[in-house]
Amino acid sequence: MRALTYDQHGQAGQVLRLSEQPPPAAPAAGQVRVRVLSRPIHPGDLAVVEGFPGESRQRFATPRIPGVEGMGVIETVGEGVQDLRPGQRVAFFPVPAAWSELLTAPTDLVVPVPEGVSDETAALMLVNPLTLLTLLRAVEDAQRSQAGAVVQTAAGSSVGKLVSAAALKHGIPLVNLVRSATGAQTLRQRFPELTTISTADADWRTQVRDATGGRGAQVVLDAVGGSLTGELAGLLDDGGTLITYGQLGSGSTPLESLALTPRALTVRGVSIGQWMTRTPEERAEDVALAARLAATSPELFEVAASYDLADFAKAVDHVRRPGKSGTVLLTSPAS
Ligand SMILES: NC(=O)c1ccc[n+]([C@@H]2O[C@H](COP(=O)([O-])OP(=O)(O)OC[C@H]3O[C@@H](n4cnc5c(N)ncnc54)[C@H](OP(=O)(O)O)[C@@H]3O)[C@@H](O)[C@H]2O)c1
Repeated sequence: MRALTYDQHGQAGQVLRLSEQPPPAAPAAGQVRVRVLSRPIHPGDLAVVEGFPGESRQRFATPRIPGVEGMGVIETVGEGVQDLRPGQRVAFFPVPAAWSELLTAPTDLVVPVPEGVSDETAALMLVNPLTLLTLLRAVEDAQRSQAGAVVQTAAGSSVGKLVSAAALKHGIPLVNLVRSATGAQTLRQRFPELTTISTADADWRTQVRDATGGRGAQVVLDAVGGSLTGELAGLLDDGGTLITYGQLGSGSTPLESLALTPRALTVRGVSIGQWMTRTPEERAEDVALAARLAATSPELFEVAASYDLADFAKAVDHVRRPGKSGTVLLTSPAS
């Protein structure tokens, strides 16, 4: 089978290789073997390949296969598996080595794709909605002591658009930040009810203050990091919370610059890894909600482009293309 592998951290387009790998062993009891047809390239996948900022870059004795999410068709099922059958379309998360053509997965990490949901939508049906739910829970916690406006950065991202749609549904007072005037215009067309501000405007800080009633934000959802984080902390109301969940930008933010103590600010990291600590029942509810969202709102699962596994370098370039809208997929044939 074909798979993308890497044996050292570095620029994904350079360290990834397309190689022939032995297929995974036949599924054991409680497992299924999936022929993977499509998987997203998430910014987090690239961070795993490239090495997270602040961590030393490593070489690995055994090549690794990236990816944790995707969709495909069940080829065989292991002993005792009753609810899933060969030929069924499934989505999976978190299952390692998604950037390969075949994988085995435990049945509790595999979800039947609802009828009517396309392969493209199914490929990104889980991570982003589950991230949304994790973020919404963190926002709810942060609003407990004092309610107020929520500001999010990188609002034009796939996750950001889910946050916007959820804010409209749940009446969360959301202010969207993007980094360009064009990005702001596009997002205003998509969500005319929400305020969208471009950080390319010289007066963007004043615009945020105005949009948050002069108080500043109670919560900032930040996927950018770097120097912007310091600026965002300055735009929080006293007692507010900065929730950091990504690092699309570069550079670092010295903690002392945030005036955490005098202003009683909280900084909280949020990761989908925390979602795995929920109980199996809670996770099943969340997954069901994600599947419902995929079935009812496919427009929230926009695909920027699809590339065969062999074209990974072009795909990685596309992920980083300014103004890209939606998620880039890596595909492989059904047989
Ligand atoms: N913590 C977690 O568990 C978790 C899970 C899922 C996602 N995430 C994070 O969520 C964020 C969004 O992911 P996604 O897949 O939704 O992204 P995406 O669809 O690929 O979109 C990326 C967006 O980020 C913007 N952007 C890129 N670099 C930027 C910068 N330096 N400053 C400001 N904006 C920038 C782009 O804006 P332009 O249109 O201007 O190019 C684009 O709108 C990422 O940081 C990702 O790591 C975290």
